Amino acid sequence: MGNDSDEILSRVSHLEDGDSSRDIYDDWSGNYDNHLIDEFGYVSPEIAAQALSDEIDAPQVAIMDYGCGTGLVGQALNQQGFTTIDGIDISQGMLDEARKKQVYRSLICGDLTTRIALDDEIYDAATCIGPVGCSSLS
Ligand SMILES: C[S@@+](CC[C@H](N)C(=O)[O-])C[C@H]1O[C@@H](n2cnc3c(N)ncnc32)[C@H](O)[C@@H]1O
Repeated sequence: MGNDSDEILSRVSHLEDGDSSRDIYDDWSGNYDNHLIDEFGYVSPEIAAQALSDEIDAPQVAIMDYGCGTGLVGQALNQQGFTTIDGIDISQGMLDEARKKQVYRSLICGDLTTRIALDDEIYDAATCIGPVGCSSLS
């Protein structure tokens, strides 16, 4: 299967309600950062992290990063000084990339369209930047 940015974008944008994006993101995980940053100029993680930082002046707050992907949001949050960041994503390939960034306290593989056994009261804030295929969350 090819893995250039056009082909993978086409696969992502043709997801139907109820389709799982796990396989697509597993396939994309190794090239995701290059495609998003170098080819598309993706800046949403930095914008989100700046917005959270503008609202919360306490770097030790616990943050859950829903649909964390390869960890670009965690990285941007960390650059804003946040230190307690957990992430959850449906794709183990994306989570493996996120782990390499060494900014997450814990990383969980899970489907956000289902009920997840998670003590959400331990979180002070959450980010959810770009999960495709999670229409039930919006
Ligand atoms: C466009 S990427 C965004 C990743 C990251 N937040 C970022 O800004 O780079 C979408 C992410 O959502 C994840 N995702 C899609 N559907 C999901 C679901 N049902 N449950 C959990 N994660 C999901 C994908 O695996 C992928 O990592």
